[in-house]
Amino acid sequence: GVPLRDLAAEHGIRIGAAANPYLLERNRHYRAVLGEQYGSLTAENVMKWDTLQPERGVYDFSLADTLVDFAEKHGQDMRGHTLLWHNQNPEWLSEGHFGPDELRSIMHDHIETVVGDHFKGRVYAWDVINEPFRDSGGELRRNLWLRTLGKDYIAEALRTAHAADPDARLYINDFSIEGRNAKSDALYELAKSLLEQGVPLHGIGFQSHLSVGAVPDDMVENMRRFTDLGLEVTVTELDISIDMPASEEELRAQAEDYRTVVRNCLQVSKCTGVTVWGVGDADSWIPSWFPGQGAALPFDQDYAPKPAFGAVQEALSKA
Ligand code: G3I
Repeated sequence: GVPLRDLAAEHGIRIGAAANPYLLERNRHYRAVLGEQYGSLTAENVMKWDTLQPERGVYDFSLADTLVDFAEKHGQDMRGHTLLWHNQNPEWLSEGHFGPDELRSIMHDHIETVVGDHFKGRVYAWDVINEPFRDSGGELRRNLWLRTLGKDYIAEALRTAHAADPDARLYINDFSIEGRNAKSDALYELAKSLLEQGVPLHGIGFQSHLSVGAVPDDMVENMRRFTDLGLEVTVTELDISIDMPASEEELRAQAEDYRTVVRNCLQVSKCTGVTVWGVGDADSWIPSWFPGQGAALPFDQDYAPKPAFGAVQEALSKA
């Protein structure tokens, strides 16, 4: 069949996957699927702070560069993930007890070094702000950045990233915002107010870590209110988990959910694409975080296509 990446390109969107340099090196099936099917890559882990700046002022781009090199070799575009988050920060940062001036200068140094000096022109979009809201509800998460710098950390990070690479599309990325709810309402208000202040925010990432049967009915309508603000939207971390073991029926239901999410993106004119969070069920984060759940991706444990793959292919073939 025609690779997903080519089908997606016909619609002017990208179909992407989160990638991991260790698997790329070790597993030829993983490597083949990633290179053939996907037109965009996101680093699942290796562009986070603990990997990029393990010691203060000491940067290590070796793993991230493995991915970017693979992407360039395979004609794939690279999404950057992520600049400011509450997880996977190195100990020196998370336990550093820095005051506002010092933390601000640490933030500027990281963004300028990563987005500007190192990846400028090679990463087309950045999740500048990851998961700024609490797990549920409309409150901002009291992460290191908010506690020390106040809520203006968001505008400041976006401005800093924009100065570092004026061509990169800058995103706020979060989960449980796919439908209309208190969290997506709060994000909408935040996005609106940032745009009113002239802050360089270009897009919203809908992570879309979903369970089978639970694609929100109002996902299109919800994405459209953001594009009506002038933003683009992207499905950035799609996976659809099933209680294990997964039955044939559940795999078919999952395929329908994948079809729905891809169609939803195609129905929103400024939806730039869909990225799945991993390649096959063997490399998904789900089983280790949610014991008893899994089978969340379009390829199985051995990187053979599942019904979900066929559904994505069909959704992209006849829109
Ligand atoms: O690097 C260490 C390794 O040295 C150690 O031996 C091993 C033992 O457990 O752990 C390794 O770190 C793991 C890391 O992934 C790299 O594989 C961490 O334990 C594990 O917690 C970490 O999980 C990642 C998770 O983010 C951390 O928050 C997942 O792979 C990754 O898929 C997940 O991705 C996030 C997105 O960035 C943001 N949105 C939610 C999404 C799912 O949680």
